[in-house]
Amino acid sequence: MDKTTELKNLHKKWKEECQCELKKTATQAVPGDGSPNAEIVFIGEAPGKSEDEQGRPFVGAAGKFLAEMLELINLKKEDVYITNVVKYRPPNNRDPLPEEKSLCREWLLGELKIIQPKLIIFLGRHAMNNFFPELKISGAHGKLLIKPFKGMSTKYFFPLYHPAAALYDGSMRETLKDDFKKIPKVLQEIDKRGKN
Ligand code: URA
Repeated sequence: MDKTTELKNLHKKWKEECQCELKKTATQAVPGDGSPNAEIVFIGEAPGKSEDEQGRPFVGAAGKFLAEMLELINLKKEDVYITNVVKYRPPNNRDPLPEEKSLCREWLLGELKIIQPKLIIFLGRHAMNNFFPELKISGAHGKLLIKPFKGMSTKYFFPLYHPAAALYDGSMRETLKDDFKKIPKVLQEIDKRGKN
């Protein structure tokens, strides 16, 4: 089965089976989107208003900013795969709760298992703390993390500030852009070290 079909089946299964309470208030599920053959998977926090309306991740203001940053390294949204820790919009964009994150975890791990990216990029602390609960984004952003997880094809992770947080904060925005420009070098470093 090709990866596109595998992803389609995964999203269909979880849309039916996900027990998350957010399902009751959200308009629809927002599964990951982009290239099934992507080298890079970006993981955000949760869908916002525009994403909830359109059923696709990062289509609002934060998504526009993400697309601008991808352009800095000659990539388009279609070249990467973009998803979120939780697949349903929390009411009034509140932070997702621990049980909501854990109920969506198998869905996210399923996406990663199919895509098998070279590098996973966390957009913000919620995505990072899902895998590295002990880290603070203020200290970890822009640094390559290397840690094998059972059942995961990559051990390479790169945390960034969340584009929505950086959008209205000048200095954070510059830091995020600087970190973003490190991505090509990070990919080279992974090639040197070996995928596994
Ligand atoms: N913020 C996120 O974390 N995810 C989205 O899909 C949109 C905004």
